[in-house]
Amino acid sequence: MEGGSWPQTTGIGHTRWATHGEPSDLNAHPHTSTDGKIAVVHNGIIENYIPLKEKLIAQGHRFVSDTDTEVIAHLVSSNYKGDILEAVKETVKELQGSYSVAVLCQDEPDKLIAIRKNSPLIIGLGEGENFIASDIPAILKHTRTIYLLDNDEVAVLTKDDVKVYDELGKEVEKQSLKIDWDPGDAEKGGYDHFMLKEIHEQPRAIQDTLTGRITEDGEIKLDDIKLDKETLDNFDHIQIVACGTAYNAGMLGKQYIEKYARIPVEMEAASEYRYKNPIVSDKTLLIVLSQSGETADTLAAIDIAKKQGARVLAITNVVGSSIAREADDILYTNAGPEIAVASTKAYVTQVACMLLIALYMGELKGNVTKEEADEVLAALKESSDLIQRALDDADKIKDFAYEHFKNEDMYLIGRGEDYVTAMEGSLKIKEISYVHSESFPAGELKHGPIALIEDGTVVLAVATQENTFEKLLSNIKEVKARGAHVLAITSDDHPEIMTEVDQAFLIPKTNQVVAPIPAVVYLQLFAYYLAVARGCDVDKPKNLAKSVTVE
Ligand code: G6P
Repeated sequence: MEGGSWPQTTGIGHTRWATHGEPSDLNAHPHTSTDGKIAVVHNGIIENYIPLKEKLIAQGHRFVSDTDTEVIAHLVSSNYKGDILEAVKETVKELQGSYSVAVLCQDEPDKLIAIRKNSPLIIGLGEGENFIASDIPAILKHTRTIYLLDNDEVAVLTKDDVKVYDELGKEVEKQSLKIDWDPGDAEKGGYDHFMLKEIHEQPRAIQDTLTGRITEDGEIKLDDIKLDKETLDNFDHIQIVACGTAYNAGMLGKQYIEKYARIPVEMEAASEYRYKNPIVSDKTLLIVLSQSGETADTLAAIDIAKKQGARVLAITNVVGSSIAREADDILYTNAGPEIAVASTKAYVTQVACMLLIALYMGELKGNVTKEEADEVLAALKESSDLIQRALDDADKIKDFAYEHFKNEDMYLIGRGEDYVTAMEGSLKIKEISYVHSESFPAGELKHGPIALIEDGTVVLAVATQENTFEKLLSNIKEVKARGAHVLAITSDDHPEIMTEVDQAFLIPKTNQVVAPIPAVVYLQLFAYYLAVARGCDVDKPKNLAKSVTVE
């Protein structure tokens, strides 16, 4: 630091996702007490910050930001009587909401205090150094040994020691966890963006998802799921709940389970589910999907369903995450860390997991023959090659994106599984290129959306499903007749599509339930190049966060 040495070796920082007050220097973390002696960073929301703030102002504390977080710094300061751990413990008693917080105190400069309630926080254990973070990739460069802090625990870190206490102040013996992610996974490795790297990692990610889960003789082994036939027969319905991209993977899961297990499935966004008084009983299996395992709405949905007797099966990417800890059964996607905000490899691995689960249930129910399962599993194993074929077409996809990057509206159509792929493609386009895009079931075009098609409108058509191909071709002709520029994704059984559209990609023949995996990759790449052409910050799109740990 300019002007001399800087002896301090303990520090905190936080990339803030604006919940209270605009993104500005004043609202940026850390926040400090009036005397500047206490500094805090906080992820989450303090729900009762207004009465706390009023009380603290009346006591003479001066606030400088619009954030809820600042009350924590002032509260710790007012509780400080020479022992920072005690001051934080006192403070916690007054806080309502969700939080992971790190606290520094000028008078005890070697200590870092961490607390957690319904917001992720991990502790990284190093040699002569220790870390806290809200997500594993942040510390992967330094250590792969971690503690998972539980709700209501308090940790005291120094460079050589970590002590954890429970709510009652009793020291807790934490078991450390070894993370097997490669530190290189959290670096760009020569790619321009994490998103592009993660798109390219998908062939390997799918293989990692399948490894150990399909035996030599084609049996599905889901060790982390303890569902037997009797348990499965007890459920009269399944609910799938998730957010964002994971929601779309759940939509495919619904189709797969209904197809193979013949159990009725309801699909709901977690943010809707939690407030709708869902019909749940001990005959409900709730399946949740979440890359991070920390999404607040999804966690709330689990809580509601569990209280009413549901069994919870989670598909997640993060070992030891809150969702993994709350669930009765877990299937890890094993996709490796996903850094880019826009989810790609997590999606395809979630889809693969859903397919495995659906087949597994179908076999338990006696609705799926061994031959049928073998055929799907063989196609699933080959899906990494099909993804690679899509990646090999990147330049052609880039050209189409660069030709159309000035379009402000794009529409995506498909039917059945293809409609879900269109939904996910549309989400990717919105998230990273800020182009207005919408997806429609192709059969719904005639009920309204076709009125939007005019000369030069971009339509992305997904047509991999054999039973609806002809219908989709008719829809393509309808939009072409109105001047649309069409990019189509279909199977190589249908080269005739080439003369009907502006750009076509033909997926080598595969089982129809597997086709959504390579199909989505074309749309991921399209969204990526569109965002690059428009000069967007691909990995960190505006207003979005990777893990949404607040409501
Ligand atoms: C955020 C991310 C999305 C993600 C969603 C659900 O909105 O930006 O990419 O799909 O959260 O996250 P989860 O970790 O639960 O899958």
